[in-house]
Amino acid sequence: MRRTIIITGGAGFIGNHVVRLFVNKYPEYKIINLDKLTYAGNLANLKDIENKPNYRFVKMDICDFDNVYKLMQEEHVDGIIHLAAESHVDRSIKDPFTFAQTNVMGSLSLLQAAKLYWESLPEKWEGKRFYHISTDEVYGALELTDPEGIIPPFTTKASSGKHHLAYGSKFFTEDLKYQPHSPYSAAKAASDHFVRAFHDTYGMPTVVTNCSNNYGPYQFPEKLIPLFINNIRHRKPLPVYGKGENVRDWLYVEDHARAIDLIFHEGKVAETYNIGGFNEWKNIDLIKVLINTVDRLLGRKEGEDMDLITYVTDRAGHDLRYAIDSTKLQKELGWEPSLQFEEGIEKTVRWYLDNQDWMDNVTSGDYLRYYEDMYSNR
Ligand code: NAD
Ligand code: TYD
Repeated sequence: MRRTIIITGGAGFIGNHVVRLFVNKYPEYKIINLDKLTYAGNLANLKDIENKPNYRFVKMDICDFDNVYKLMQEEHVDGIIHLAAESHVDRSIKDPFTFAQTNVMGSLSLLQAAKLYWESLPEKWEGKRFYHISTDEVYGALELTDPEGIIPPFTTKASSGKHHLAYGSKFFTEDLKYQPHSPYSAAKAASDHFVRAFHDTYGMPTVVTNCSNNYGPYQFPEKLIPLFINNIRHRKPLPVYGKGENVRDWLYVEDHARAIDLIFHEGKVAETYNIGGFNEWKNIDLIKVLINTVDRLLGRKEGEDMDLITYVTDRAGHDLRYAIDSTKLQKELGWEPSLQFEEGIEKTVRWYLDNQDWMDNVTSGDYLRYYEDMYSNR
């Protein structure tokens, strides 16, 4: 079947993996990458597929309703996979307006453009899909109830041996009440509500997924894993917020992209699916794995860079623990992560070390000013 799909935010971290997967796997589809190219968007992430005949890049702001609507009409778009967002919690603390603008108003502009276009067609909603990519952060924060760890409802390939254990007995399930704490997660929560409202009010065929923290190649080095890999390489301090006790649930980005592919095609309309690999790590434990891995791969003595760890002022409103329960996705659609965490981290560290040009490119200019501003007062 031929389809024309807009993927928003396709030049960003997760988006480029989703675009690549769709362009390569579905030559019969036309894939339109709609991206504003903010600081986080980078066309160098898509060099390997930019000349494929079924791929088109359009530089556009999702808030630009008129042009988004026009593009949908011109291209006869029947599917939207919406990833474009401002995505970094620390930036949202400094500048919440941009987050409300892009994540809330931008998502609404996209929804309204799709609604008007699809409603104008004779077949209306038939064969259409609006897939909104969201985050586990909308559920708020979980407690660290059991420092020894307990067995989560499922283990997956992503859970590494030692970290089969969870740090509490509660998990984020799809029916949980939203309790966002940061301006980032509040704006994502608002956009999730709008997507569901478009289904409930107008009958738009929507689906929403909430995923845990992603890691892998092409992530902008303001986020923990690429930032720390680069700092370890250059022997710069590693700014650990608070005591490093916060827990995040990590999933390799290509496993997220595979889940998106499956849910776009087989997920039920109006459903929500949580995506995660039951792979919880305390920040400080993860940072030690990163140090050991970078040291080893650079031929240094493993662990010799541990003294780069620098405890700094905690993030305001820092969520203590995220832990996704993805049982529904595993049982209903048969998704499973493909990679164990240690393999994923090894691949990721290798990628950043092998792609120093990419890192140098994105960390020049404005980035240096951002970095100094973000960390100078901590
Ligand atoms: P990212 O910041 O790396 O990329 C965002 C992309 O969106 C960039 O290419 C940027 O240019 C584009 N963009 C931003 N504002 C835009 C606008 N107004 N119009 C058009 N394009 C715009 O983000 P990411 O980490 O790839 O996250 C993608 C999506 O997945 C986001 O919606 C995020 O909330 C969600 N998510 C991320 C994670 C994670 O761990 N990174 C986890 C769960 C969910
Ligand atoms: P981050 O990668 O920003 O993702 P998120 O806040 O969306 O989970 O941060 C992951 C964890 O690492 C989070 O608990 C905050 C912490 N962190 C640090 O300790 N130092 C840093 O410099 C950064 C960027 C994050």
